[in-house]
Amino acid sequence: MKYSMIALTQLNADQTKKLAFLHHRALHSLLTDLGAPFLERYYQLARADSSVIGVCALDAQGNPLGWAVGSPTPGQVARRMSEARGWFIIQMLRALVTNPKTIWQAFLSSRLASVVMEPGAIELTYIGVDESARKKGLGRDLLGAFIEAAREKRFSSVELSVEAGNAAAIALYTRAGFRVMRSQIEGAFNRHRMELILT
Ligand SMILES: CC(C)(COP(=O)(O)OP(=O)(O)OC[C@H]1O[C@@H](n2cnc3c(N)ncnc32)[C@H](O)[C@@H]1OP(=O)(O)O)[C@@H](O)C(=O)NCCC(=O)NCCS
Repeated sequence: MKYSMIALTQLNADQTKKLAFLHHRALHSLLTDLGAPFLERYYQLARADSSVIGVCALDAQGNPLGWAVGSPTPGQVARRMSEARGWFIIQMLRALVTNPKTIWQAFLSSRLASVVMEPGAIELTYIGVDESARKKGLGRDLLGAFIEAAREKRFSSVELSVEAGNAAAIALYTRAGFRVMRSQIEGAFNRHRMELILT
């Protein structure tokens, strides 16, 4: 399959918006439930954050086909979304009206998801591939590019959380050498915490 791999920082505004929509249709997460405006804001902030590692695969027309993004301080980018107070309050009210269960889930996750990172670790927070491009090796390439960038930045390990029922993702990670460190409840989700040692 033909694609070009670029760093998240190289995405323009239109591609960033398209990446938010790709995340929305390809990967279920709390941000997905909160809606497209949250996702677009998340990727705008991630693109500008020097602690974030992000890679994106583009098709021949420059549209995102897949991506991988993470940071040594998971949650920091998401937390920064609330700094634009007016925007944040309006979006939370919108989500409260359209999807009240999500706000409860967001509250539970912020209380219960106490992810403690090992020293020197970076978290792979989100990875996904457009449904039309799956099972062709792109997920493996994106994961490989993320790991390589983490190695270059001298992180000693990559950590991630994956839903226990996500067989495709668990197969991808296991084949790349990740091992389950522990299983834990995060909000309403049963997740494995996985780790790949880089040194
Ligand atoms: C997980 C995901 C990123 C994999 O992307 P992909 O491009 O289809 O994966 P690849 O084609 O590179 O496959 C990589 C390995 O994973 C395995 N794999 C991929 N999809 C699989 C599936 N549905 N079932 C079992 N194994 C699978 C393959 O066997 C492959 O190993 P191999 O090439 O040595 O045989 C993709 O399924 C996806 O976007 N899922 C939705 C989003 C998601 O769940 N993200 C992870 C959140 S933690």
